[in-house]
Amino acid sequence: MTDPQRVTLVVGATGQLGHAVVAELLAAGRPVRALVRSPERADELRRAGAELVVGDLRDAPSIDRAVDGVAAVVATANSTAPRRGDTLATDSTAMTGLVAAAEQAGVSRFVYPSTAASALDADVPVIRRQAFITVADAAAVLVAALDAPSLDRQVVEVGGPEILDWNDVARVFGRVLDRPVRVRTTPEKVFAVAQRALRPLAPSAANIMGLDRFAATVDAPFPPKVAYDLGVDRLTTVEEFLTAKAALPAD
Ligand SMILES: NC(=O)c1ccc[n+]([C@@H]2O[C@H](COP(=O)([O-])OP(=O)(O)OC[C@H]3O[C@@H](n4cnc5c(N)ncnc54)[C@H](OP(=O)(O)O)[C@@H]3O)[C@@H](O)[C@H]2O)c1
Repeated sequence: MTDPQRVTLVVGATGQLGHAVVAELLAAGRPVRALVRSPERADELRRAGAELVVGDLRDAPSIDRAVDGVAAVVATANSTAPRRGDTLATDSTAMTGLVAAAEQAGVSRFVYPSTAASALDADVPVIRRQAFITVADAAAVLVAALDAPSLDRQVVEVGGPEILDWNDVARVFGRVLDRPVRVRTTPEKVFAVAQRALRPLAPSAANIMGLDRFAATVDAPFPPKVAYDLGVDRLTTVEEFLTAKAALPAD
């Protein structure tokens, strides 16, 4: 259980999920410290009310400064879309260092989102089923996890409100766009080859191929129960999400 009056550190706050976590914490009136590598990319976070600490997961002294005095950490940082010098290989080492520093500083709760384990062994992507969850809903779950004693030292699988395969998603697209949507299957091996070919030239694009390969081969039919049990009881459906996207201005 985290004291909501005490500071929560968000590591990865300039990223998609971390940004949503900061917004969720601030909306709940909770003090937030954001570890950022470049303050010039964090203006919006500062204006929203987050305290900024400049640092890098690979720079131990900056991590010690960041965790000093905080009650909890939400760590969404990763190098799937790497900047110069980032590699996926550093993620686990850097994250281990952050956990150790947090423990040393007496942090009582550390929330770390990850993805499903993968065997990468199939080649029929459209049958794969996912429990689609929006970034905003995932952020709400991470913040709720700060306060849940039942999650002490637990790994939990968090899913959205419905489990769909990619044919189902195409049908939803068809309804939202009000036109037929044709499904084409890309075998997992194509993603694997593209991932290997792109790696030396464009690491971010290579990682996106890796994520596509992951989505093509891994079933992640996680139940929404964890979210509901944490009090996040209004989860966005794929149709609601796509309808909102379709209503956005084209530019
Ligand atoms: N967003 C999604 O749709 C989605 C879907 C499935 C799973 N996930 C999972 O959710 C988690 C968060 O993903 P995301 O989409 O929020 O990632 P993201 O938008 O790519 O953000 C990555 C964040 O990590 C920070 N970072 C990277 N290396 C760092 C380092 N050495 N030190 C400090 N900060 C560092 C980046 O900072 P800079 O801005 O300085 O680079 C950025 O803030 C990941 O585990 C991802 O697998 C996300």
